[in-house]
Amino acid sequence: LASTEFDLTKVADGQQVTLKWRGKPLFVRNRTKAEIAAAVKDDTAALKDPQTDAERVKPGKAQWLVLIGSCTHLGCVPTFGGGDYGGWFCPCHGSHYDTSGRIRKGPAPKNLAVPEYAFLSDTKVKIG
Ligand code: FES
Repeated sequence: LASTEFDLTKVADGQQVTLKWRGKPLFVRNRTKAEIAAAVKDDTAALKDPQTDAERVKPGKAQWLVLIGSCTHLGCVPTFGGGDYGGWFCPCHGSHYDTSGRIRKGPAPKNLAVPEYAFLSDTKVKIG
């Protein structure tokens, strides 16, 4: 299956770009310091699918969060800026994800998936 390269300079601070990748939406989010701090603070919360924020990003690149934009319940596309945890909210059945894309409330069983990707340079990633 194809991998794709993406230029991170297209994503402003605090913004997100949605790409189409392998038939699914892919979110590339340039997180604010506040979003990162909120995610790290909740590393010790009671998480349904326990993962630290650091496990979901690349070392030294915490502002970049790359996620498959498909709710782990039944696959709707969650929207950013809703829900109780400052991250994504899935309108289909009410799953709330935090600023790390971790499931916090609602029927979804798993965190939003992080695809395989690698930094080719400071401003370019290869996804897949
Ligand atoms: Fe997202 Fe059901 S598909 S909550």
